[in-house]
Amino acid sequence: MKLIDSIQRMAMLSKILKKESKTVGFVPTMGYLHDGHLSLIKTAKQHTDIVVVSIFVNPKQFSPDEDLASYPRDIKRDEEMARLAGADVLFNPSVEDMYPEGYATYVDVKGPADTLCGKMRPGHFRGVATVVIKLFGIVKPDIAYFGQKDAQQSIIIRKMVEDLNMDIYIKVLPTVREKDGLAMSSRNTYLSEKERMDALCLNQALEKCEEAVKSGERDAVKIIKMMEKIIKAKPTARIDYIEAVDMKTLRAVSTVSGGTLMALAVFIGKTRLIDNAILNP
Ligand code: PAJ
Repeated sequence: MKLIDSIQRMAMLSKILKKESKTVGFVPTMGYLHDGHLSLIKTAKQHTDIVVVSIFVNPKQFSPDEDLASYPRDIKRDEEMARLAGADVLFNPSVEDMYPEGYATYVDVKGPADTLCGKMRPGHFRGVATVVIKLFGIVKPDIAYFGQKDAQQSIIIRKMVEDLNMDIYIKVLPTVREKDGLAMSSRNTYLSEKERMDALCLNQALEKCEEAVKSGERDAVKIIKMMEKIIKAKPTARIDYIEAVDMKTLRAVSTVSGGTLMALAVFIGKTRLIDNAILNP
């Protein structure tokens, strides 16, 4: 596995790979890899000739009161994990290289970026879209891999690629969970033992929601109330949002149908966790 930390060297390699007609699969991450990231890398390895994984904790997607400084980092561990999963290149640019003084260009995806997490974390998706389009420009992938865990992020990236006529296929893969159902996240490392137990309430609430839909409930307000009850029973949990939305537009819906996404964000202590389920009545 090649380790590259300069944009120039990465861009040069991408050019060579294109000339050699190699297909490039790309997995952008912020590091502190877990099985969710590894499933993206392993799938990319099956589909494409060369798999590039980026690790970049993108300051532009954190607001000043968020966890940029404490975001978990362990590049040595990540290197080993990415290599074992089949990555061919690990691209780890510096903040100075990505955003030199005078950096001025941003991407705003209106509509899907204005709801759910976009409403609660203003500017977050502007930072995400901006770094992803920069990384796409450097790595020049044929296929880029994203996780369903960050459903809104995947929808925004797909919209950006479509709107800007970028020749990149966006593949979204299912959420990988711990044995007890908690969606894997680099931020799970922040949780104390007690909080880790309480954090199960996100998945429990989604399971209850899916059960209710299976038994015929279609009223989104009723389902959300039921989910709220499960989460509020946990002492360290505080709901940021629970919303039923259309899977494509991310606009709120009052009736559950095929293509409804149930999405939630919950603070467990100081840690903000997200999860979602696609409902199939
Ligand atoms: P990060 O949180 O490191 O996630 C990188 C990729 O892994 C994203 O596509 C995310 O959806 C996916 N992922 C995370 N947890 C997962 C899980 N439990 N199961 C499946 N996939 C999972 O998302 C980001 O970084 C950043 O916003 C980024 C896109 C890299 C831009 O900075």
